[in-house]
Amino acid sequence: MLKFFITTFGCQMNIYDSELMAGILQAYGYQQVFEPRDAGLIIINTCSVREHAEERAFANLWDLYHQAPKKAKKPVFCVAGCTAKKMGEEIFQKYPFVDLVVSPANVYDLPKLVNTFQKTRRKQLAIKNQTSYIKKNFPVIHANKIKALVTIMQGCNNYCAYCVVPYVRGAEISRPLKNIVAEVKGLAKKGYREVTLLGQNVNSYHDSKNDFTDLLKKISSLPGLLRVRFMTNHPKDMSGTLIKAIGQLDKVCGHVHLPLQSGSDRILKAMNRGYTASHFLGLVKALRRAKPDIAITTDIIVGFPGETKKDFQKTLALVKQAKFDASFVFKYSPRPGTSAAELADDVSATEKQRRLELVNLAQQKIARELSQNLIGKEVEVLVEDLATDGKNLFGKTTGYRTVIIDTSLAPGQRSTTNDQRLPLGQLIPVKITSAKNWTLYGKSAIRE
Ligand code: 5AD
Ligand code: SF4
Repeated sequence: MLKFFITTFGCQMNIYDSELMAGILQAYGYQQVFEPRDAGLIIINTCSVREHAEERAFANLWDLYHQAPKKAKKPVFCVAGCTAKKMGEEIFQKYPFVDLVVSPANVYDLPKLVNTFQKTRRKQLAIKNQTSYIKKNFPVIHANKIKALVTIMQGCNNYCAYCVVPYVRGAEISRPLKNIVAEVKGLAKKGYREVTLLGQNVNSYHDSKNDFTDLLKKISSLPGLLRVRFMTNHPKDMSGTLIKAIGQLDKVCGHVHLPLQSGSDRILKAMNRGYTASHFLGLVKALRRAKPDIAITTDIIVGFPGETKKDFQKTLALVKQAKFDASFVFKYSPRPGTSAAELADDVSATEKQRRLELVNLAQQKIARELSQNLIGKEVEVLVEDLATDGKNLFGKTTGYRTVIIDTSLAPGQRSTTNDQRLPLGQLIPVKITSAKNWTLYGKSAIRE
């Protein structure tokens, strides 16, 4: 039986795609292994959103190749994901030991491609744009038994000037609502308690008469599920109706990831983002009005072409004003094929680094304050697992903060995930006793 190993780089969509590949291969009788040396098929699921992510994936590919047996025992190497789509044939030239190159829209053909390669020893390139796959039901294997990722759409039509996604993941296409509902119903029946609905821009989901708000309402009404999350949002498409629904639906978690990218209207325009800084701040306000204590996280790019010190100051000021719970800050890196790649990359590497550190510093201060405000309070936690020490429990708040829950086991005592007394998959109240930037520590506040 063929054993496969998958390693994943990049966003939640890639994590989902890896689960999908695992599901498809297992449906064909292949077995997933978690040590590359045990595998006859090694898959690297790549990300091309930033240069750094791409370099890391290829460095890992070399490592895996160097560690693998050679000649007749060499495993089949497969490069999947966005970089597979972007580079195509070039991957075979640069990495001659790679046998399969498969883009995200072609993962359904994976077993067939492996088979053909094994029979013919001819390299297989599968990077066609296919849209029919989104209509299928996905035999996904979810890594976690309590929460699952569920793709609701693929691709993107927004063409933000810096972003390679529309080129590598293709045009936006939504999954039929009934397929998503059937999948989530099945998950709830199997005992899953939380789903995250995924798409590059879930706010533009549509299936005949249903938009994202309709989908969210439908999913929230399914019995068995305790929590619903979704990502990523686009500030230009986040409607008042959706914000109202987020406020009203109890199962919808109090966390929204709303990428700002820049606080300067001039740069937002150059980025082709389609909103202004004041519109963005209006959304933040409306979200907090609709769901008090909602956590808002964001993405920011520093050093976009033409970003002056004044532009950057506007970003920094907006970060402080919006008081995000977390900001993911990236140094602009030109991606070949995007419209911004035509512009001069005129902010020096040291200046980009300086700007990144300034945002990170401001954000850390805010995050620390927000987390410390929770000390002494009771928060609701969905318990996911034992913490890495095998003793305490690990879970998330509705705002996605990590919580380590003291189980008061005696020193040296450990528990196991099979221990029926542990509240795995349950929502429990936890009294917070201390806090770091993003991680909280507390004690169960269940009253016996
Ligand atoms: N350079 C730097 N950051 C980028 N991102 C996307 N493309 C680039 C790029 N070329 C960031 C954006 C996006 C996040 C996933 O990655 O902030 O929201
Ligand atoms: Fe990229 Fe913009 Fe689409 Fe997000 S919305 S995937 S940043 S093009």
